[in-house]
Amino acid sequence: MDMPVVVKPRQMKFPFEKTQRRFFFDDNPLKSAYIAALSATFPPGEGEFIDSVRLYRDKVEDPELKKQIRGFIGQEGHHSHQHKQMNRQLNDLGFDAMRLERHLARDIEKFKKDRPDRTRLAMTVGMEHITAIMADHALNNPETFDGLDEPIRELLLWHAVEEIEHKAVAFDVFMSCEGDRALLHKCMKVATTMFVIRISCYMVGLLWWSRSFPRWRAIKGFAKYLFGKKGVVRLIRRPYKEYFRDDFHPWDHQNQALVEMWKTNFYNADHDRTSEQFKHKDQRQ
Ligand SMILES: [Fe+2]
Ligand SMILES: [Fe+2]
Repeated sequence: MDMPVVVKPRQMKFPFEKTQRRFFFDDNPLKSAYIAALSATFPPGEGEFIDSVRLYRDKVEDPELKKQIRGFIGQEGHHSHQHKQMNRQLNDLGFDAMRLERHLARDIEKFKKDRPDRTRLAMTVGMEHITAIMADHALNNPETFDGLDEPIRELLLWHAVEEIEHKAVAFDVFMSCEGDRALLHKCMKVATTMFVIRISCYMVGLLWWSRSFPRWRAIKGFAKYLFGKKGVVRLIRRPYKEYFRDDFHPWDHQNQALVEMWKTNFYNADHDRTSEQFKHKDQRQ
């Protein structure tokens, strides 16, 4: 299937130093810990996504897919780098996201050891679907990010856009080189379980280490964020199940218009060093 968008990294930079409150999401310790836990998993997690796709780079013959792999690696590399900056800032505010990064990095090292390449790639494909449907939810319901500190909100929306742009890359690599849907389905179940347990434990860790004990109002706010009318868990349930269809492809859901919507409504060129480079180039011409 043809890819409806171009996969090309943007070099963004966000002013995380402007985030000065530990509970940067709605003053809610749980919502903040949830986003912080997610952010902690990105640098090591995306590093493994890159590595597992790289294992197959030489086996892919389609020049278009090869180009997309380069774009995928570039995008995930930048996400990882920016989340590292965010995590550093959270550490300064008393949320030890960097400790979680190290914890996950150790776990991934252990996981990689005796796993065949195809299992590593199948896990990446599963996680890429989860990030893509969460990204779709965020861009379709940007008001669910109301109350987030601006630099973090901008980071998450940019990350969401690029997750949509490259959502089919790992899938296409897997299908062209392995083509084993049963393995994809099995790994998705494992990946989902591990993801839910990990994020929950990481939230507990962040709250416990910072001695932050949420009150009832915060619990209600977080429950609404997950399970309310526009709640992320509630709305991604259906697209999650699509993955288990025998003819599923990530671009069955044509949501590339969200990329344009982001450019019109949320894109902040001040933070995009790629566009600056282009600007200078344009001036020289
Ligand atoms: Fe990413
Ligand atoms: Fe991704």
